[in-house]
Amino acid sequence: MKTNYSLNKDDFVVVLTGAGISAESGIKTFRDSDGLWENHPVEEVATPQGYRANPKLVWEFYKQRYNQLSEVEPNPGHFALAKLEEFLGERFCLITQNVDDLHRRAGTKNLLEMHGQLTSCFCTKCNEHFAVKDIDLDKDIPPCLSCDGLLRPDIVWFGEMPYFMDQIDEALRKATLFMTIGTSGQVYPAAQFLLLARSYGIRTLGVNLTEPENRSFIEEFHRGKSGEVLPELIDLLIKE
Ligand code: APR
Repeated sequence: MKTNYSLNKDDFVVVLTGAGISAESGIKTFRDSDGLWENHPVEEVATPQGYRANPKLVWEFYKQRYNQLSEVEPNPGHFALAKLEEFLGERFCLITQNVDDLHRRAGTKNLLEMHGQLTSCFCTKCNEHFAVKDIDLDKDIPPCLSCDGLLRPDIVWFGEMPYFMDQIDEALRKATLFMTIGTSGQVYPAAQFLLLARSYGIRTLGVNLTEPENRSFIEEFHRGKSGEVLPELIDLLIKE
């Protein structure tokens, strides 16, 4: 493998990851064949309307994904990104579209979970947030621990505003390299970050199993599995 880039301590790297980075850990992606959206219409389980129409079904979908977290582990792709952050320290920011906890468990510290997280939920009445491990998952629709409201998964659904958009723009303005990994580049605003990076004159590097939608904006593209490509690529990038 070869890369045109090398990094030093003055660089600032912003990384965007998608479902592809967790695929080798055994977590289904969304749009690959047999992906999550093939078995669950988005409208039913990933929109506020779907939750209002059938909160029990939505909780079944997210409880299943939450329970899977205890059966999966971070893979070499997650650990390679934690190693890159160790090298760069504060000059690193990982934005993830994923709601699993694998980046955190791999040791990533500066992590912006823009689509929320499976391990968190909040009350639709008082808006208080709770760790899913602390609520009563035996209930079809878990009740709030503080009021008589009902809880919902802390997931950003279609039509809702992702988290951390200000911090994301701030990080992109400081970046010297933007890496997009394991995402089909089909969902906005995340798919826009690559274009933003290009407009800020930032170098762009991509790793994906297939050519993503926004491939034309990626200057250096490595086709392959992130768990295989990233360890070697990141060693090359930070080689003194
Ligand atoms: N290594 C690298 N890339 C992979 C791997 C792998 N081992 N396996 C699959 N991929 C690639 C696929 O080729 C695909 O391009 O990962 C990408 C996954 O794309 P999607 O399933 O569309 O997932 P993602 O891009 O993260 O979706 C974005 O859409 O459904 C919403 O909120 C949901 O966060 C999600 C968002």
